[in-house]
Amino acid sequence: VLKIGSAVAGGGHHLSQDYPDPFTGDAAYRDLLGREFTSLSAENQMKWDAIHPAPDTYDFAAPDAIAAFARANGQDVRGHTLLWHNQNPSWLTEGDHTPDELRAILRDHIQTVVGRYAGTIQQWDVANEVFDDSGNLRTQDNIWIRELGPGIIADAFRWAHEADPDALLFFNDYNVEGVNAKSDAYYALVQDLLADGVPVHGFAAQGHLSIRYGFPGDLAQNLQRFADLGLATALTEVDVRMDLPDGATPTEAQLTQQADYYQRMLEGCLAVDGCDSFTVWGLPDTYSWVPHTFPGEGAATVLWEDLTRKPAYLALQDTL
Ligand code: XIL
Repeated sequence: VLKIGSAVAGGGHHLSQDYPDPFTGDAAYRDLLGREFTSLSAENQMKWDAIHPAPDTYDFAAPDAIAAFARANGQDVRGHTLLWHNQNPSWLTEGDHTPDELRAILRDHIQTVVGRYAGTIQQWDVANEVFDDSGNLRTQDNIWIRELGPGIIADAFRWAHEADPDALLFFNDYNVEGVNAKSDAYYALVQDLLADGVPVHGFAAQGHLSIRYGFPGDLAQNLQRFADLGLATALTEVDVRMDLPDGATPTEAQLTQQADYYQRMLEGCLAVDGCDSFTVWGLPDTYSWVPHTFPGEGAATVLWEDLTRKPAYLALQDTL
């Protein structure tokens, strides 16, 4: 059964935006999240800078709150993320560590975090955004790959698998919805890793789209080639933003196009055996990262700020 997920912006800790914590302070949102979704993703709360703020300090308060909420509502949890070039704490990025020390730090982190949530988190985005848009490994901005070489990616999957043999372990990235240089790079890497017996179980496209650009029409074909390698696939961070210069209100035409993009992403997933989750990157628009990250763009989620439904919500509902 396809899981329908949402990122959770709250959790009592580490909001990168300046809105109140929706997880504790917004009952209507919380009810909707518990009622309408079968999977939750931590928007920020399990990233390194949040969960591992000092060398010997882990902060599990927010991840535990998400896990408890999911348990109470019978939901799955997607863990996000273990090896990434962003949102790392400065003690890590600016620390003076030998390669051996860095390896031990990553291994301990993965064992500790994945181990703690074994049985609670069904899927982990082990490696996030390891390629750039040209399909080159991020050998400069990813501290792990830069300092330890590309083999560290296989190690991360192995350590995660040891810590929770039941969790499905994913690659996750943006701009890999369609067949292109970047998704080709994943396709090649995954084949190499599988040939080496590395426990890679899934390939996820984030699904951050803008109606400014065309829809990646070969989404199903792209997911299918990973499914044909035996992998699960997923859409993990779906949102569809639009240009709203000077705080403009979305037009009917924009909302229709947005609904079409959401619908086609869901259809792409439904067309592929083993596409097992479709997660929106937060809702309502109040809690969306988009206006903060893409100035002049917004309205990217399927719900208006007062939780009423956009055409995109209804399009998803019709498609399911
Ligand atoms: C974003 C969050 O939504 C923001 O709150 C945060 O400030 C930056 O990160 N790809 C990912 C996510 O894998 O972790 C990112 O989340 C969005 C892009």
